[in-house]
Amino acid sequence: MSSLPRVRSVVLVSGRGSNLRAIWEAHRAGRCAASPVAVLSDRPGAAALRFARAWGLLTEVVSPERGEARERWSERLADAVAVHRPDWVVLAGFMRILGSSFVQRFPERIVNVHPSLLPAFPGLDAPRQALEAGVALAGCTVHLVDEGVDTGPILAQAAVPVLPEDDADRLHARIQRQEHLLLPAVLDALARGRLRPARPPRWREAVFVKETAALRAPLAE
Ligand code: GRF
Repeated sequence: MSSLPRVRSVVLVSGRGSNLRAIWEAHRAGRCAASPVAVLSDRPGAAALRFARAWGLLTEVVSPERGEARERWSERLADAVAVHRPDWVVLAGFMRILGSSFVQRFPERIVNVHPSLLPAFPGLDAPRQALEAGVALAGCTVHLVDEGVDTGPILAQAAVPVLPEDDADRLHARIQRQEHLLLPAVLDALARGRLRPARPPRWREAVFVKETAALRAPLAE
């Protein structure tokens, strides 16, 4: 029998679900101690829901109704998430901004992955923003969610080069390969209590040297 505590995560998705797949595969392989127990979406057609059902996870769609205020929808979504008693709520490509009623319901328990080195390029189309700004390094950030857009405390980052022939899709694909390593690694560290967001940032960096070191190999293209 495993000696690990069972740590529950609820994953929120809107689209393809490649990060959901990475979390699931890492969990199945014993590399991510946080067990996905349910997948919720704001979009009934999200491809991620199909995989989740095929894997036997509980799924639910909570879409805003016509004219429904963001806060009211956020409360309904929070109720649907709370049913699963999550230790962590993971935004893995969840494309709708959550109201403060959701964020306050799970304080310092919501984790997001964003395809830029925050605080640069928050919001939509981050890889395109990076190309337009002419930066030489791009990357991804895993952070706690607060009431702003992509502004919460940073937990970990991975960098990739921007190459001369990149368009936004190519750059995003390179960033996503890092997301698929970094997000499960962060969830694992959180689930095992090795990463405690309340601690000062220098402590967090020290803990993450080990995980991010493992990310160096795929950076060479
Ligand atoms: C990822 O690039 C993530 O950083 C952003 O949305 C994208 C979702 O991709 N928030 P996927 O649905 O996990 O493939």
